[in-house]
Amino acid sequence: MELGLKNKVAFVAASSKGLGKAVALELSREGAKVVINGRYKESLEKTKQEIEQQTHQEVLAVAGDLSVAAEREQVIETILDLCKTVDILITNTGGPPTGKFETFKQEDWDKAYNLLLATVVGLINGFLPGMKEQQWGRIIAITSMAVKQPVNNLILSNSVRASVAGLLKTLSNEVGSYGITVNNVMPGYTETERLMQLMENNPSFSSAKSEVPLARFGRPEEFAAAVAFLASERASYITGISLPVDGGWIKGIF
Ligand SMILES: NC(=O)c1ccc[n+]([C@@H]2O[C@H](COP(=O)([O-])OP(=O)(O)OC[C@H]3O[C@@H](n4cnc5c(N)ncnc54)[C@H](OP(=O)(O)O)[C@@H]3O)[C@@H](O)[C@H]2O)c1
Repeated sequence: MELGLKNKVAFVAASSKGLGKAVALELSREGAKVVINGRYKESLEKTKQEIEQQTHQEVLAVAGDLSVAAEREQVIETILDLCKTVDILITNTGGPPTGKFETFKQEDWDKAYNLLLATVVGLINGFLPGMKEQQWGRIIAITSMAVKQPVNNLILSNSVRASVAGLLKTLSNEVGSYGITVNNVMPGYTETERLMQLMENNPSFSSAKSEVPLARFGRPEEFAAAVAFLASERASYITGISLPVDGGWIKGIF
């Protein structure tokens, strides 16, 4: 299937590793001009070279901590200087710490807000005007299956990500008439560093694989394939959805 992604500019936030990296690789394979991001220049440069070697497409790398407002603004400004506009915005960051309600102080909630919600709001603020002007855009947030079914011992993620889903659904109603689609993709257990850390540090995740109907963890490239489709020209009539890529983990019907 031709996805129609050639020469589109895609910014994939938090993409030096894990799910973001897999999405950046997939979009680059499809011919998009991809901008990657992470907090650390060294690992970001390594990922840039890796993707360029595999896809023979130019990849731009812009480092910065997206949960820090000033750094986020700098990242946006640099990308707009380099590319003028972004056609496809993929929001993402690392995940918040595990724990139950009484584990956390107010400052932990503030950090989770800055990491998970303020990043999405800030990045959309930065790139939406250009999308509106050109009457085309794709906004896709990487959140979690926790949006539909809370995961034990992950109260920060379960709480703040639900607000991201509310933001996206509302925004999809507001910007659809500009040819901009807004969707939420919810990874289930997928083999990345984040999952390995969760498994090592939390006995409550030991039964995770047995909870998945497909009886295995997902691979980052399986997640990336779904995101690339939603980013594509072919997904032009899909907006306002929350798509699980979870091997069937969510137990509800819808
Ligand atoms: N993997 C799963 O099973 C799973 C399931 C559900 C939800 N999720 C969620 O999906 C997201 C991605 O997960 P992942 O498994 O790919 O995690 P990961 O393997 O830990 O990778 C996280 C990526 O984000 C970057 N990053 C972290 N914080 C950042 C920040 N503040 N600003 C810019 N870049 C930042 C990291 O690079 P640097 O360290 O170099 O900055 C890295 O490239 C997380 O929010 C996670 O909670 C994952």
